[in-house]
This record gives sequence, structure tokens and C-alpha cells, in this order.
Amino acid sequence: MAAKLIVLDHPLVACHLTTLRDKHTPPSEFRQTIDRLATLLAFSATQDLATADAPIETPIQKMVGRRLLNRIGMIPILRAGIGMVDALLNMIPTAEVWHLGVYRDEATAQPIRYYDKLPAGAPVDVAFVLDPMLATGGSAILAGQMLQDWGVKKIKMLSIISAPEGIARMQEALPNVEIHTCAVDRGLNELKFIVPGLGDAGDRIFNTTG
Ligand code: PRP
Repeated sequence: MAAKLIVLDHPLVACHLTTLRDKHTPPSEFRQTIDRLATLLAFSATQDLATADAPIETPIQKMVGRRLLNRIGMIPILRAGIGMVDALLNMIPTAEVWHLGVYRDEATAQPIRYYDKLPAGAPVDVAFVLDPMLATGGSAILAGQMLQDWGVKKIKMLSIISAPEGIARMQEALPNVEIHTCAVDRGLNELKFIVPGLGDAGDRIFNTTG
């Protein structure tokens, strides 16, 4: 069975996405908008997190609240995924952040792995892979495979915009990885860029468009 695909259908998502796609949006506003959309993706992707009883005392009386039960990992794919980390950490302050360096070769569009420090020890229980863009799916699949090799049982991909080609590849290669995205665009152009897309998220976040 193909992995679950959750596309956020919400007016706030649609409006923030418009800001993100607009080529006139400056890097500071682009970063802020990535942060807002990543927060909304976090809300979607965390709905089934397990919780345990947490006995507390309010100023009025004792009660039993909830606390997160599992070890949660944020896995930003460098560079652009870094732009989504703060939003997720804001929601789950106890999460661990494990960076993966993967860039897409400009000529071949193949993912090239250049950094990872995943520990040899016990894996996190749930991993959220963070990357604003899922284009051919190569980078996300590589990240997902690295996390599976680490032993992570539950992996979720959080992508702000996605191409149908990348989603299909990912669903085939990693049928257990849930995909949460704000938009599924028309497709990829001859350079394997998402159309209509938003350009290069990493360059727009870090103001390196030249
Ligand atoms: C972009 C993007 C994804 C990848 C998506 O990164 O942030 O990581 O390409 O493409 P794919 O689905 O075809 O693999 P890029 O290689 O431009 O690196 P950067 O984040 O350092 O800019």
C-alpha cells in the first residue's frame, strides 16, 4: 500500500503559500513564511503522537494532564530544511535535531550525501524529515533510507511544496513514510524544478540567489 499523503487544504496555507511563491518576497519575509507554514505542517504531522498521563496540580486542584511519550527527532535536510527547524522545535521543545547534508547535483538532479552524524545508538521513535521542497524525491528518499538504516520505525516527511513525480517515487520507495505537504504542484520542468514552484528554497532562505 502506498504511503499516506496529507495535503493541507486551508485558507491560511493558501495565503502564506502565495507569499512564498511570489518572486518579489524578500528573504526575511520568505523565512518568516516558511516558519508559519512549517508550524501548520507540524500541527498536521503530530496529530497521532502518543501521550502518557502527566499528573500535575493547577492553582485550584490536582489533575491528570498529558505529556509526549516518545523520543522525537527533527531531521532537516541541509540547507533548506534548516528554515523549518525553529517552527518544529517551538512546538516540540524536547525534540532532538539530527542534520543530514544532501544536495542535488545540478547536472544530474541526483542527490549527493555530504554530511550525517546519526549516532550508532538507539534511534528516535518518530522522525520528522524537514525540507521545503520535494521535487524528484531523490533527496527525501535518501534521507528516509538513512533513517530506516538507523532503525527509525516511524518516519514522516514534511514538505512545503511537492511535485507529483517526487510523491509517486517516494510512495513507491518508502511505502511506510507519511508525506505532509502544503501543496502538490503541476510537475517538474526540464531542469527538474517544481512548476509553478517557488524557485530554490535554500537560496531564498539564505539570500544566496546572487
Ligand atoms: C533542494 C531542496 C531539496 C531538494 C529537492 O535542495 O531543498 O533538498 O533540492 O529536490 P529532489 O526532490 O529532486 O531531491 P538543494 O539541492 O537545492 O540544496 P540546498 O538546500 O542546499 O539549496
